[in-house]
Amino acid sequence: PVIYLITPTHSRAEQKADITRMSHTLKLVPNIHWIVIEDSEQKSDMVSRLLEQTGLNYTHLNVLTPQKFKMASKDPNWLKPRGVLQRNAGLEWLRNHKNSPAKKGVLYFADDDNTYSLQIFEEMRFTQKASVWPVGLVGYLRYERPIVEKGQVVGWFTAWKPDRPFAIDMAGFAVNLQLVLKYPKAGFSNEVRRGYQESTFLSGLQLTLSDLEPKANMCSEVLVWHTRTEKSSMENEAKLMKKFGKASNPNIEV
Ligand code: UGA
Ligand code: MN
Repeated sequence: PVIYLITPTHSRAEQKADITRMSHTLKLVPNIHWIVIEDSEQKSDMVSRLLEQTGLNYTHLNVLTPQKFKMASKDPNWLKPRGVLQRNAGLEWLRNHKNSPAKKGVLYFADDDNTYSLQIFEEMRFTQKASVWPVGLVGYLRYERPIVEKGQVVGWFTAWKPDRPFAIDMAGFAVNLQLVLKYPKAGFSNEVRRGYQESTFLSGLQLTLSDLEPKANMCSEVLVWHTRTEKSSMENEAKLMKKFGKASNPNIEV
């Protein structure tokens, strides 16, 4: 089966570094199709070039998040959901191209700043309905994970809203493409309560706990990490400008 990866991405100083690192991981994974959706009015030259250079199978899309759903820079990072319309655009592409891509496929929502072991892709590749596994460095814990008893997922190890139907991070599950095609309305929304994006999507696929396939050694191993890239300060640019009337060369892409 092909692994389809849906990756929302947005413009920021660290974007090229994050996408470069992720693309180099993906170059080591066989049989994937990377769907990258920019949160922008237009596709950027930077992302276009970067994707082309990877040699990966990819689809490049874009959709802008409306201003009212965007976070202000002072907002705490959990205030508004991110990547909602972009993931939906990726889903729509898959549903509209259901005959051209290989029918046997698995879908994974892979944010552009996480850290992925190669093994996680092989764990998810043979997903019947939905696979789940632990995610490291998330939820203000060392990890969150599905709780497994006798080979069955029975609940969630998390400190935050454990009563959610699927109390799991976006990086912690993959689903069979057939299910995505069978339930064409399943998707994400800017209107749902905080923390309910994953539950909204998985419930939309009519899944229940007993459908979930625990991977990563019965959910006892961390193979993906919810890393976040530190915001780089550019404060010396202004200092150089003040002192010499000239800072770094804007034509050098970072
Ligand atoms: C956490 C979850 O792991 C995400 O899956 C979830 O989308 C997000 O919270 C949320 O609050 O909605 P976190 O690391 O806090 O992730 O979020 P980011 O990595 O900043 O954003 C998630 C994805 O959306 C990234 O791929 C990012 O590039 C993209 N994004 C972010 C946009 O497309 N537009 C934005 O304005 C911000
Ligand atoms: Mn992130």
